[in-house]
Amino acid sequence: MAMAKIILLLLVLVPIRIRMAAALIDCPDVPSLGAGAACQKACGTKLMYDLCIRMMREGDVDMSPSHTERATAYAILAAHSTAISFDNTTIAMSDQLSQNSSLSSKQRVAYEGCMDDYAPADSSIDTIEEETLPSCHFTFLAAEYTRVITNVEKCRDRLLSPTLVKSPLYPMVLADLNKAVVANMLGKLLGT
Ligand SMILES: *[C@@H]1O[C@H](CO)[C@@H](O)[C@H](O)[C@H]1NC(C)=O
Ligand SMILES: *[C@@H]1O[C@H](CO)[C@@H](O)[C@H](O)[C@H]1NC(C)=O
Repeated sequence: MAMAKIILLLLVLVPIRIRMAAALIDCPDVPSLGAGAACQKACGTKLMYDLCIRMMREGDVDMSPSHTERATAYAILAAHSTAISFDNTTIAMSDQLSQNSSLSSKQRVAYEGCMDDYAPADSSIDTIEEETLPSCHFTFLAAEYTRVITNVEKCRDRLLSPTLVKSPLYPMVLADLNKAVVANMLGKLLGT
């Protein structure tokens, strides 16, 4: 319950956070561009492009082509959106484990494994959002995203059985993975 309130609060804070980030962070060598152009440049597929645009809209970014921001602002927004999504999934998993008595033992083992996978993924996405991007030193960004993505992939792979893919958590994990991939690709616009 308390956690749910925190999540709600975080969701409300997204637009405020991005504006603050944009105002506070001005990494001098990072290009400025429109949000649509950033998604276009970063994303190779329509699926990823559409998700990128959705993440921007949810973060209350001004989408008009004439409005530009440093690419850092988009990268931080995407990392933040990914972090919130991870938290939401982790809560859903932990709720299932503690409250759903009809979980099979296979499901239980998979969800517990996923909780272990999400811990390092969560810690790395927080580091990216709060330290790596705001510091304007992007040297370790790619390695940090690799840690995020490989750990969420580990969880996805645990759920890749005919019964587990039908679990309500599977689409949430896939959505997390896609968000992390978009955030990683936006991070590559910063030119490390
Ligand atoms: C959060 O999780 C719930 C299920 O617990 C899901 O229905 C909802 O779409 C999720 N929200 C986000 C923003 O991922
Ligand atoms: C409990 O787990 C079962 C098996 O995965 C699932 O079908 C059901 O929707 C879950 N119940 C709730 C309340 O989430």
